[in-house]
Amino acid sequence: MENTKHLKRFYGRRHGKGLSDIKQDLMDQMMPKLALPLADISDMHSLFGMNVDRIHLDIGFGGGENLIQRIIDHSVTGFIGAEPFIDGVGSFLAHLDNQADKSYQERIRLFADDVRDMIPHFPDASIDSLSILYPDPWPKARHHKRRMIVMDNLDMFARILKSGSLIELASDIPDYIENALENFTAHDAFEIISVSREPFEGWTSTRYEQKAIREGRTPQYVTLKRI
Ligand SMILES: C[S@@+](CC[C@H](N)C(=O)[O-])C[C@H]1O[C@@H](n2cnc3c(N)ncnc32)[C@H](O)[C@@H]1O
Repeated sequence: MENTKHLKRFYGRRHGKGLSDIKQDLMDQMMPKLALPLADISDMHSLFGMNVDRIHLDIGFGGGENLIQRIIDHSVTGFIGAEPFIDGVGSFLAHLDNQADKSYQERIRLFADDVRDMIPHFPDASIDSLSILYPDPWPKARHHKRRMIVMDNLDMFARILKSGSLIELASDIPDYIENALENFTAHDAFEIISVSREPFEGWTSTRYEQKAIREGRTPQYVTLKRI
């Protein structure tokens, strides 16, 4: 397959203050097993260490508080998480390592980089559900093209999502929700199912969400369907 890596310019943060020794050790020990091998992912189900019935993609899982709980709650789902912020990946690995049940590690594969460099390697209609939780807001109008919910990315999501699959989008920025809904509406592959101030069923909050609430912003939860 064509090497599409780094064709797209990434504007977010890849590093914070530097990984603690503990997180660096977790990266060294766990990533060789958990890192998604881009070279051949023609059979997505074979990526996992056990049989899975469905595959969920989490774009920008941050510290992974929501992702780890999903893995615990959905025992026959395989998960793929993309997160270019290495400190976030380290936090997620710490959550995963803290679980007594080591079989969770068989159902998660990680891409510690820009999701737009990973998706082109996926087969068509290979993903059963997608979450994009609190995507970076890029509030200035001239930066809106850096947002995750732009038409080029919607084309990519449309290609890899199975017909009928659901997308969860959460944001605390009203303008982000408005702009995302406009784009999803303009795209013929998606249908808006609901826009709510009530969290999704089985929701696990994240540090990012709690900070937004503390600072007086109101989360909105949008469910969309790949037609
Ligand atoms: C505001 S944080 C939210 C994190 C997490 N989803 C949560 O709800 O707590 C947005 C995350 O998206 C990640 N992100 C930004 N651009 C991305 C990209 N192109 N591919 C994958 N993740 C990305 C950032 O690194 C960051 O961790």
